Amino acid sequence: MTTIFSGVQPTGTVTIGNYIGAFRQFTELQHESDCLFCIVDQHAITVQQDPEELRRTIRSLAALYVASGIDPEKAVLFIQSEVPAHAQAAWIMQSISYIGELERMTQFKDKSSGQEGISVALLTYPPLMAADILLYNTNIVPVGDDQTQHLELTRVLAERFNRRYGEVFTMPEIRIPKNGARIKSLQDPMKKMSKSDPNKKATISLLDTPKEIEKKVKSAVTDSEGIVKYDVENKPGVSNLLTIESAMSGESIDSLVAKYEGQGYGAFKAGVAESIINHLSPIQEKYYELLESPVLDEILDKGAEKANSIASVTLQKMERAMGLGRQR
Ligand code: AQP
Repeated sequence: MTTIFSGVQPTGTVTIGNYIGAFRQFTELQHESDCLFCIVDQHAITVQQDPEELRRTIRSLAALYVASGIDPEKAVLFIQSEVPAHAQAAWIMQSISYIGELERMTQFKDKSSGQEGISVALLTYPPLMAADILLYNTNIVPVGDDQTQHLELTRVLAERFNRRYGEVFTMPEIRIPKNGARIKSLQDPMKKMSKSDPNKKATISLLDTPKEIEKKVKSAVTDSEGIVKYDVENKPGVSNLLTIESAMSGESIDSLVAKYEGQGYGAFKAGVAESIINHLSPIQEKYYELLESPVLDEILDKGAEKANSIASVTLQKMERAMGLGRQR
């Protein structure tokens, strides 16, 4: 059976960008594959986090995974730091990574530019991500397209390890959604929507209230043409809203364009907001039921146990292949 692995950082509340790019794929795939979904808290600390806030966000993200449709009976849901093999394997992956190839990563360049005191971990984030994926003999990694470069590096590192030390790793493939692989900021449609964006008007979180959603969509940057048309190059703001409504309602972009023909942006934005509110309302209801429930801890305990049992086997293979310790 195909193995699927993907992770999300607890760095703020999940946005509809994360949801459309990643979460939606997870819920589709869990019926046909062995799935492991991870809360990658060790990635989150590559930039400084408040400890109390991080703990709260980890739990919130776990509840959102389940509320969005991850079935813990079908998929393994776990927290990265509760599976020590991730950090151990990351060290090994760092030992076969070159500084130059890590410095070329767009995410490193974006997150480090203009910052003082850049952590070493921000640079070595990709070898940890490679370890996350490779520990589970992953075949497919469903992500948004911002992760393409990291996935390519994971494949390069896996291939390098296998060539030097023998065939230990399965070669993972990326899976990007056909629509919504990169949902854009509502305030700057040239930039991707990011959960850690300090401008709250730029993102819609899965936990925003209907009023907040209406307000944010209303203030979304569009253009002065007043025509609802899908044209990413010339009408990035309108195209982004069309992609969002299509993902939320399940209606095709063509049929939405036909629906809004002859109507201005007021009616269009009201329709976009309504589709988001309708889609998120049952997710939010389930989220609040789960958040303080012991059921969530049971799911995470079971997930950590299962993930540990798989990851420790691969880690041992890696260590033995490299000659670490005494065992062959
Ligand atoms: N705007 C987006 N459109 C589609 N997919 C997206 N993803 C992120 N932003 C978009 C996908 O969501 C998953 C989780 O990502 P992550 O938390 O590991 O980190 P990220 O890609 O860096 O996401 P953010 O929201 O931008 O987080 P911060 O602000 O902390 O850096 C991934 O599959 C990603 O592709």
